[in-house]
Amino acid sequence: MEVQPHQAEDKTTVTVLVTGANSGLGFSICCRLIDEFLFTRPQSQSLHLLFSTRDTKKGDSTLRRLNAHLQKTLKEANASTPGISLLLEARIKLENVLVDLTRLLSVKALAKQLLTRGQHLDAVVWNAGIAGWMGIDYLAAAREVLTSVVQATTYPHFMICDVGALAKPQLSGHGSVHTFPEPALGKVFTANVFGHYMLTHWLAPLMDAGSRVVWVSSPSALPEAFEVEDLQGLGAKMAYESSKRVTDLMVLTSEGEASRESTRTFWGGREEGPRPRMYVTHPGVITTSIADISWILTLGMIAITYLARWLGSPWHCVSAYKGAVSATYAVLAPPDQLPELEEREGKGKWGSACDVFGHERVARTEIEGWGYGGELGARPSGSVPYSRTGHKEATRESREEFEETGRKVWREMEEMRVEWEKRLGKVEVDSASSVDA
Ligand SMILES: NC(=O)c1ccc[n+]([C@@H]2O[C@H](COP(=O)([O-])OP(=O)(O)OC[C@H]3O[C@@H](n4cnc5c(N)ncnc54)[C@H](OP(=O)(O)O)[C@@H]3O)[C@@H](O)[C@H]2O)c1
Repeated sequence: MEVQPHQAEDKTTVTVLVTGANSGLGFSICCRLIDEFLFTRPQSQSLHLLFSTRDTKKGDSTLRRLNAHLQKTLKEANASTPGISLLLEARIKLENVLVDLTRLLSVKALAKQLLTRGQHLDAVVWNAGIAGWMGIDYLAAAREVLTSVVQATTYPHFMICDVGALAKPQLSGHGSVHTFPEPALGKVFTANVFGHYMLTHWLAPLMDAGSRVVWVSSPSALPEAFEVEDLQGLGAKMAYESSKRVTDLMVLTSEGEASRESTRTFWGGREEGPRPRMYVTHPGVITTSIADISWILTLGMIAITYLARWLGSPWHCVSAYKGAVSATYAVLAPPDQLPELEEREGKGKWGSACDVFGHERVARTEIEGWGYGGELGARPSGSVPYSRTGHKEATRESREEFEETGRKVWREMEEMRVEWEKRLGKVEVDSASSVDA
């Protein structure tokens, strides 16, 4: 699936917020959004790209690199249509915003900044994330790679997790407004899921039914990594995979009957029709700094990743720009396309797949317990099956269990949100009004 040129809404400015934009996938999503926006949207439309980093130094360097990417795109466009760059350049506005998702006061500050401005958000891409790994179990890695390169690099079990790692206390030293003791927050869970969850809730007044909340998950969101009794993955040996399974569960059940009560309060009382839609995407397997390994190992990983692609893996996109195809599609697809597809074929996980030559495309991903989204046993064309050895096809029982687990996830996330809002206080908007947090 590709973003086709289309006459989208008449809106002249499309505003998109991308988190974790200074490196890896986030940076590439920004580049790809620029490229595809310029050549698929009408000349009357402009893109206001808000890209988040954790500090201004990273923000300045990201802005420089995004501008360099834009200039390269403009130069190529000029080569085929001399002078077109003047028109195209004026359609892109880049702006850095700051947020650290493991610091909820920083999340709240970004919400306040954007709410005060009151600018409508057409899409947000929740890309920022950490793996929370401390190193590699080399023996297990060798065993897994020798057994199956594809399995080892798609669903690795050899990364050593920093089990029980916590985010720093949220309120100490901030003239706390809370009267309750502060519960622990898992570091990986807060960076990957909960910080974004709070931000979505706080930014909800800036979004409408056409807005899209695009989450970035992973092919490795393994069911066995997650226990519903341990939502934050505090005891998990695969806290990263657990956080991605939470993402899948949450998004795929976000329009379901079972989660309705929680999703309504989350969206500030809005029912399904007038509220934004959530989509879950993943970039396949790409080379970024998320694993935080030495350059020698990174080179080895790149070689093994290409090998997995040549051996037929559908998910080894390798390059972050190719991996960005699914998130970019979720942001820029014509307004009715994804809702209609998900209405017809069930709610899906939109992955970045590629063929042996590296041609990327967007593909529905099979999810353990859920299937592809729609009818049991049905496989929408272009979908990619779960390639894990020994995986079980979804059954009626597994679907029901998935929905029930999704309901529990939503309920607990909402309980946590309400509790944390009591501690953190409302988001006060500068115009003297305040938005109910
Ligand atoms: N690499 C893969 O093969 C792969 C596969 C599946 C899914 N993904 C997903 O893709 C997303 C991006 O990962 P990546 O591979 O591109 O890794 P990356 O290069 O390490 O990028 C992660 C980004 O998230 C930011 N970030 C981390 N912690 C943050 C926090 N507490 N607050 C705000 N920003 C934070 C980082 O900023 P700093 O530079 O300041 O740390 C960085 O910009 C993640 O959600 C990841 O799970 C990646």
